[in-house]
Amino acid sequence: MTSEAAVIVKLGGSVVTQKSEPMAADMSAVQRLAREIKEANVRNLVIVHGGGSFGHPLAKRYMLKEGLVEDRQLVGFASTHLAMTKLNTLIVEKLVMEGLAAVSLRPSAFIVTEAGRVVALDPEPLRRLLHLGLMPVLCGDVVADRRLGFTVLSGDQLCSRLALDLGSRRLIIAVDVDGLYTADP
Ligand code: IPE
Repeated sequence: MTSEAAVIVKLGGSVVTQKSEPMAADMSAVQRLAREIKEANVRNLVIVHGGGSFGHPLAKRYMLKEGLVEDRQLVGFASTHLAMTKLNTLIVEKLVMEGLAAVSLRPSAFIVTEAGRVVALDPEPLRRLLHLGLMPVLCGDVVADRRLGFTVLSGDQLCSRLALDLGSRRLIIAVDVDGLYTADP
């Protein structure tokens, strides 16, 4: 359906949120990125952002990556999903204000994992939205998992899977780290 291959851009949580403060977006970074994305004028662009200080502290507190062990984690799942929705809304808002046709798509609504790996993903909504000239904006999320009950789907895994499903040849990853690491920090 889409003739040109999609370009996928991952905005790391370290770029779009403030590390030191829980649930604080870095709105000046988001604004700058929105302007740069507008200026780049790329067709078939999919944006995926990470969780940073919105997603990670909650996912860790409720041990969501490990899957469902006890019922009190369910409110943790809901809170993490809500936090990611809030961050996603802040980002989409800035993109739309910049005049971009950005549309939020929540991974938990069309993706299932098994032991943490994506096993079911319906690419049709994405393909159709891209074909229309819209810009899907996704993020790392909590998702249903066939073996674990639920788990955390990282934006990075989402990007590599989308790249395969959408036949992308370009995946751009924006991160904010202190210098270059020679080993996993
Ligand atoms: C994390 O996504 C999503 C949740 C914690 C729900 P990422 O793993 O892609 O986030 P960053 O980029 O490392 O912050």
